[in-house]
Amino acid sequence: MILGIETSCDDTSVCVLDSHGVVRSLVAAGQDDYHRPFGGVVPEVASRRHTEDLLPLIDLAMTKAGVTWGQITGIAVTSRPGLIGSLLVGLVTAKTLSLVHAIPLLGVNHIEGHLLAALLRDESYSPPEGFAFPYLGLAVSGGHTHLFHVLAPGKYVLLGQTLDDAAGEAFDKFAKMLGLGFPGGVAVDRAALGGDVMAFVFPRALSQQGNLNFSFSGLKSAALRLLQSMPPAEWQARRADLCASFQHAIVEVLVEKMRQAAHHLEIKKWTVTGGVSANSRLRARAQELAQVEGAILALPPLRYCTDNAAMIALAGLYKLRAGLVSGQDLSPSASSLPGDW
Ligand code: KG4
Ligand code: ZN
Repeated sequence: MILGIETSCDDTSVCVLDSHGVVRSLVAAGQDDYHRPFGGVVPEVASRRHTEDLLPLIDLAMTKAGVTWGQITGIAVTSRPGLIGSLLVGLVTAKTLSLVHAIPLLGVNHIEGHLLAALLRDESYSPPEGFAFPYLGLAVSGGHTHLFHVLAPGKYVLLGQTLDDAAGEAFDKFAKMLGLGFPGGVAVDRAALGGDVMAFVFPRALSQQGNLNFSFSGLKSAALRLLQSMPPAEWQARRADLCASFQHAIVEVLVEKMRQAAHHLEIKKWTVTGGVSANSRLRARAQELAQVEGAILALPPLRYCTDNAAMIALAGLYKLRAGLVSGQDLSPSASSLPGDW
């Protein structure tokens, strides 16, 4: 049994995972209500919330799974990338429990967790038939937009990443401009319902064939300029069209880069994970593309797409099997490190 701990940003999450990658318990405390008044995640507030919530959640996860410390064979924890104060809370807790109970410590890169999430199992989810390594993985959230060739556990080839903002960040900032609140991605998704995706043309950066990197900061500036050029009454009246067109621009870029990478690598197993994979249009367009290309697409349920400790526990399970145990000198890092891929 692996105990997984995730505190890299603004979700405190704990999981007990068995050796078959089956989730025995997954519990979490979100922090949206604490950050909403500030319109974004406040790092200091996030760390304080983790400090308060983590130990009770660990007790709860173990009780729900019906396990004792003697049954835990590894403690997996996100050590990077993320908010340094948030990471520190999870990491210090994991290190302490590892020392006290003499259980191996397994430091995990958060993005690696997202990439492996599609392989988790529980009573209502298992990966689609035939989905296995190697596969194409798009991890797209508020903090990352990364496209990988996932060869095997611990073997990842980075094909492209955002050069500036993450896709979720672009959604959040656009929502803020429109006064749709925090977190913004889901609000834009909802507001886009019934809107015309062709009503406004937003730029699609780095769209040259073969370039698998992403850039969303130009899109954000274009949206701001467009809104500033319209009387507020007009953009309020056309909110659905604006959201649909903006969402369309992001989704088409994500899906087109996946298509190009899949062709280039001749790979027919794909996964899309991270908070933005909750987006209804992205899910629909990825499914359409997979059908056209005859690919197997793993779209994990939202509980494994947004930040969660189950994906961290699974990455830890693979590390334990490979003998990749971390030392007590493991430090948090705001960014990924050379050698992670
Ligand atoms: O993976 P996640 O929970 O945390 C990070 O690691 O960032 O992702 C959160 C991000 C936020 O930017 C949020 O606005 C976005 O995912 N998001 C969405 C949707 N639901 C969440 N973006 C677009 N459409 C959605 N339905
Ligand atoms: Zn994440």
